[in-house]
Amino acid sequence: MPVSSPVYIALEGAEACGKSTQAALLAERIGAVLTRETGGTAIGARLREILHDNAVDDLSPRAEALIAAADRAQHIHQVVAPALAAGRSVVSDRSVYSSLAYQGYGRELDVAEVRKLNHWATGDIWPDIAILLEADDDVVAARMDARDLDRFEAAGDEFHQRVLDGFRALAADEPDRWITVAATGTIADVHAAIADALHSRGVL
Ligand code: TMP
Repeated sequence: MPVSSPVYIALEGAEACGKSTQAALLAERIGAVLTRETGGTAIGARLREILHDNAVDDLSPRAEALIAAADRAQHIHQVVAPALAAGRSVVSDRSVYSSLAYQGYGRELDVAEVRKLNHWATGDIWPDIAILLEADDDVVAARMDARDLDRFEAAGDEFHQRVLDGFRALAADEPDRWITVAATGTIADVHAAIADALHSRGVL
């Protein structure tokens, strides 16, 4: 069911909350371009390697923010802006809001400065809707136990708590833009909850 006017929707949340699966299902449902940050372009994939590499052990928070913003600048230029201009909706697995949460709240950079940097990087192309997927802590912990942790995943509980608190604060600050969905139940249940929430906002 394609939406009537193109909309840019971002799926956001902590590690291992099921975002990628839900982004793919939503994109399919509404006939949107499915994409991701970081690594949604060939250049972005190279930048993502740096960001995730555990061997990168002294990356400054500002450098991290700039690399994520460079990924985003390329992604908006190459994927998001052309899709919207062609009348296609976009569903993105993460967006600028991950930079506000991870580099701003998580790395404790000034959130307003990270926002400003990203307004420049994106030419102000910003998600219309952000969906915060809130998974149960024990589900996330079990998923994390089952995999090799990358540089972000290995950053520690306090960092991840700041990120999660950051997402919640961002959602509370802009209730018209954010939808919070409990990532509990089956994949189909969560997808239905997302679709219902978008429907009640008049997006679907
Ligand atoms: P994921 O693609 O597996 O969700 O992992 C992306 C990781 O990169 C995740 O730990 C969040 C982090 N990240 C940032 O720190 N800043 C950003 O701007 C983006 C898009 C992701």
